[in-house]
Amino acid sequence: MVSGKAPELRLSPPGPRAQEVVARSDRVVSPSLPRAYPLAVARAYGCVVEDMDGNRYLDCMAGIAVCSTGHCHPQVVRAIQEQAERLIHICGADFYDPQYIALAERLAAITPGSEPKRVFLGNSGAEAVEAALKLARHHTGRPYIVAFFGAFHGRTMGAVSLTASKPVYHRGFAPLLSGVVHVPYGYCYRCAYNLTYPSCNLACVDFIEEILFGKSIPPEEVAAVFVEPIQGEGGYIVPPDGWLQKLRALCDRYGILLVADEVQSGMGRTGKWFAVEHWGVVPDILCVAKALASGMPVSAMVAKESVMTWPMGAHGSTFGGNPVACAAALATIDVIEREGLMENARRVGARFLENLRGLAEELAKETPKSPLYIGDVRGIGLMIGVELVRDLRTKEKAKTEADQVATECFRRGLLVLTCGPNGIRFSPPLVITEAEADTAFGIFADAVRAVRGM
Ligand SMILES: Cc1ncc(COP(=O)(O)O)c(C=O)c1O
Repeated sequence: MVSGKAPELRLSPPGPRAQEVVARSDRVVSPSLPRAYPLAVARAYGCVVEDMDGNRYLDCMAGIAVCSTGHCHPQVVRAIQEQAERLIHICGADFYDPQYIALAERLAAITPGSEPKRVFLGNSGAEAVEAALKLARHHTGRPYIVAFFGAFHGRTMGAVSLTASKPVYHRGFAPLLSGVVHVPYGYCYRCAYNLTYPSCNLACVDFIEEILFGKSIPPEEVAAVFVEPIQGEGGYIVPPDGWLQKLRALCDRYGILLVADEVQSGMGRTGKWFAVEHWGVVPDILCVAKALASGMPVSAMVAKESVMTWPMGAHGSTFGGNPVACAAALATIDVIEREGLMENARRVGARFLENLRGLAEELAKETPKSPLYIGDVRGIGLMIGVELVRDLRTKEKAKTEADQVATECFRRGLLVLTCGPNGIRFSPPLVITEAEADTAFGIFADAVRAVRGM
């Protein structure tokens, strides 16, 4: 059980040290990096991030849903230190590293499904997705891949071809991987077919079979469907009940592999190890990264043994499954279990969602100078998103306002990120207390009101 007071936030605008770091970055670092706001970090602990000028922020983004056990959890730090003193690198792909094998065993045990599994370790989410993509084609011998509009699967050439959340990810990079087709996600707030759940009977899944397979690509040539069980970067979109199950059944009808990209939703964030468990769905391949090692770079592609049929040499990595990162991952899994962090995610997340729904109702009753409302509140556990709109009826997307709200939160001592064109996501460390979550909620409400001009 996680308990405790909210941290004291000490705030002033980013000071000279942060400004100097930003200026140096602007001279030397790749201009492609998508900076959110001028946060230059000196240290962090638990849910608190301290910048170079000593300002303290409450963290509701966890380095993009990564630092699940809180920043620098002592048990994770100790595991990293002890492993670094013993062995930093040997290449777990070419030789036998006990840490690599121990992590593979733990992941095979906590991922859904009773069939025996095999695990490949990489360094990033995109690498796990690349591995899944290659395995899906290799195992099935089929060329096509189905993915969803709004999806984010990473930025390497294969993963970015599956991604379809913003044109900037594709602009200037064509031709992308051939054989990738996108279809609408189960996004009820903005249904692509203007239907309403549940009377729609999940027509968005039928579309794949009737229109895509019926008129364009033969289903027996489709290797895999890649899906985020809850869409992350695309807007923290929770699909309706039954959607994932219907997708699973569709895949089963045609021998298509279902690949769950749990890079953002996995490792306890939704109150279960993996989001697919909320719908009782077992994927053929599951990708995990981000929160796997509390901030150390490691990812995993976990597949049914019957699917991971590629031969020796077909895939590998020099650094993937590095022993220090694996030690951090094993400690992370222990901490999540021992400290009841999934239970905490469920409890604190439910309260946060309730507060946000209350705020949405209050805002709907007020008449702001500048029209800004919460059109939709959604999420499971501590994977929570709100969609900001200018009009509750037309649902006009409040795109610039979403950026302004994130910046206003930052100015007030709260770190959040946007998602989708007009959303704000809350993905705090899973150790966040109720008091901290209430503080975060209060700051967010103030920030929204500030952008409304109230
Ligand atoms: C669902 C999902 N898949 C893949 C990735 C890519 O992960 P990485 O940035 O570690 O390559 C992300 C990153 O945000 C993600 O959210």
